[in-house]
Amino acid sequence: MKLIIDDADTEAIKRLVEYYPIDGVTTNPSILAKAGRPPFEVLHEIRSIIGPDRELHAQVVARDAEGMVADAHRIVKELGNNTFPKVPSIPEGFKAIKQLSAEGINVTATAIYTPLQAFIAAKAGAVYAAPYINRIDNMGYDGIDVACKIHDIFRANNLHCEVLAASFKNSEQVLKLAVHGVGAATIASSVIDSLTKNAAIDAAVDDFTADFEGLTGAGKTMATV
Ligand code: G3P
Repeated sequence: MKLIIDDADTEAIKRLVEYYPIDGVTTNPSILAKAGRPPFEVLHEIRSIIGPDRELHAQVVARDAEGMVADAHRIVKELGNNTFPKVPSIPEGFKAIKQLSAEGINVTATAIYTPLQAFIAAKAGAVYAAPYINRIDNMGYDGIDVACKIHDIFRANNLHCEVLAASFKNSEQVLKLAVHGVGAATIASSVIDSLTKNAAIDAAVDDFTADFEGLTGAGKTMATV
């Protein structure tokens, strides 16, 4: 499962890319609005932080297929290889996905709440489908179940599309999707930090340091003993 940052906070992205095995960054118009700067200024900065080899996903905003295609062309032209225009999984979006995928552009179908949206998007040619886990949970359904079902539908129908699960609020949601082996999870910075945050881990590492320093002296390490 790829690990992707769902954020446009460039300081957070810099830090996470330095510490964690990050495969890319996703944004949407609401995430860009939080950054409060011109959209392409922020997206170019993100591209320069993550380099040319990681994935960058940026969403179209037009509401009709023709406008979505134009938005997607601009996104790819500005941000280069490994850029994935995100297109909402609505009828105008399916029309745009068909055209963009025929042109060889890698599209991420987004705003997915139901397995059938993902099925149609994948048949239209999307390479990723992004179900919104937490938002589905908040509607009284099971977001994990929806994402796993989508993964299974893709496999059962030999569709070349992967789940890119989005909208996470906690580590358990991420863990369940990793167990199922979905293609990718895009996760807000604060939730990425929480994936491996645990007082028992810190206590174990503190104990190792204290025991070693008891043996060799304060501040000593394997390199300096
Ligand atoms: O792109 C969709 C994803 O970012 C939604 O996350 O936390 O706004 O539900 P959230």
